[in-house]
Amino acid sequence: MMNRKAKYIELVNQVKSFLDGEDDLIANLSNISSLIKTHLGFLWIGWYFVKDKQLVLGPFQGDVACTRIPFGKGVCGTSWKEKKTIIVPDVSKFTGHIACSSQSKAEIVAPVFDAKGEIMILLDIDSAKVNDFSPVDKKYIEEITHLISQKHYFFLPVFF
Ligand code: SME
Repeated sequence: MMNRKAKYIELVNQVKSFLDGEDDLIANLSNISSLIKTHLGFLWIGWYFVKDKQLVLGPFQGDVACTRIPFGKGVCGTSWKEKKTIIVPDVSKFTGHIACSSQSKAEIVAPVFDAKGEIMILLDIDSAKVNDFSPVDKKYIEEITHLISQKHYFFLPVFF
């Protein structure tokens, strides 16, 4: 059986070829959520867009989720505020965690930066296992968000 690193290497290669073949942001984010689900499993994978002073739900794989998250709230709002990837090993110990599912036990959130270094989108992944995310996940998840950044550098949420 492939270990997680090997799965990420395969995943990143597929993400690159999907991005090479398509210029539409929503189409790319939709397929990348599906690719992550297919390769790694996880409970929930999805994107939140920065719109005005809130995060708004974008393409995802998994159960229905909260549609809006304020700046600085929950893990996503904290990643947006602190402008960095956040790993939460045990969501029950994260003050202010927004529980969209009682099955979610651990979480990783990584930003996608625009051309000015501002966050335009966040990638949120939930796991049903406590302590499921390590520096290996961070490295490859950030590689994916970086690839999207490079491809959709000039995406301006104002056009939505
Ligand atoms: N748990 C997140 C909210 C989004 S759901 O996990 C899909 C948070 O605390 O920001």
